[in-house]
Amino acid sequence: MSILVTGGAGYIGSHTVVELLNIGQDVIIIDNFSNSKPEALESIRKITGKDFKFYEINYLDRNSLEKVFEENKDIESVINFAGFKAVGESVEKPIEYYTNNISGSLVLLDTMRKYGVKKFVFSSSATVYGNPERIPLTEDCKIGGTTNPYGTTKLYIEQILKDIYKSDNSWDIAILRYFNPVGAHESGLIGEEPQGIPNNLMPYIVRVAAGILKELSVYGNDYNTPDGTGVRDYIHVVDLAKGHIKAIEKLNKEKHGLFIYNLGTGVGYSVLDMVKAFEKTTGKKVPYKIAPRREGDIATCYSDPTKAKNELNWVATKTLEDMCRDSWKFIQNKM
Ligand code: WQD
Repeated sequence: MSILVTGGAGYIGSHTVVELLNIGQDVIIIDNFSNSKPEALESIRKITGKDFKFYEINYLDRNSLEKVFEENKDIESVINFAGFKAVGESVEKPIEYYTNNISGSLVLLDTMRKYGVKKFVFSSSATVYGNPERIPLTEDCKIGGTTNPYGTTKLYIEQILKDIYKSDNSWDIAILRYFNPVGAHESGLIGEEPQGIPNNLMPYIVRVAAGILKELSVYGNDYNTPDGTGVRDYIHVVDLAKGHIKAIEKLNKEKHGLFIYNLGTGVGYSVLDMVKAFEKTTGKKVPYKIAPRREGDIATCYSDPTKAKNELNWVATKTLEDMCRDSWKFIQNKM
């Protein structure tokens, strides 16, 4: 039996494919390289020593997607990573984000239904919590009030999935809400490669350390946090990938259901904590300046990951040092 991974050449998708191949799972990747690179596929083969099927298609293209299902009647579940995910870009390009993320998911789900494939893992985000009702966040916290189209696409797709399950409870659906994914595979062969100037903190830090960017702008130091800078729940991408393995195992075990899990460490670190950890781990200096707050940012956001621990038997194990070391190794390999 195979697992279809959409966006499997991307940052989180490629790390999840590595973990799937490592446990002997047959994998089919579809990707159109809109936010990933073809060399990621060779890196996956090099890391695992295993192969997989690959189709270069856009999941919005129903005919091409149906061809994948026609040619692979052993697809038993789908993990959907395909989606644009840059918060700032989503504000500038809402039509592209709603089309790609929502319409793409609908075409995928409809095609799955046509071929009788009803196990689905969705890459969601802590952004769906909007301005957190309470910290740490649990899965029953209020969702909504998203402040950008990217987050709103995640919110809407979660609702679509809930409505699908309500209409037909023979589906098995896992919604995984990621906190702040960072880091890279220990091989240094796959990692995060944002296009252009990175929006996210860690990719920016590593580029400052590498001398590609001049200095880090710390967006505000007047938040109600221990050192005044924003606090987030950074989770190593390999821990995140392993959470998907556990989610698939859960869907294979359960007699149908819709399950929602926070994938985070349950620990919050500030921007300056991250800078200090990175400098200590790598020995590289990260010059920074305090800049004005970034529009739409919140002070503090971190998870309570107890539900995933209890129901998926999943816990994040990698440390802040692992995140910094692996991020640094990846960019050095790329330079
Ligand atoms: C983290 C902290 C910034 C950059 C977003 C999305 C979320 C997910 C992860 C996709 C904040 C500060 C950042 C910089 C800074 N995306 N910062 N200088 O905003 O928590 O979450 O990315 O899955 O859905 O919402 O992550 O890394 O952008 O910011 O000071 O140059 O670092 O203010 O406190 P964020 P981030």
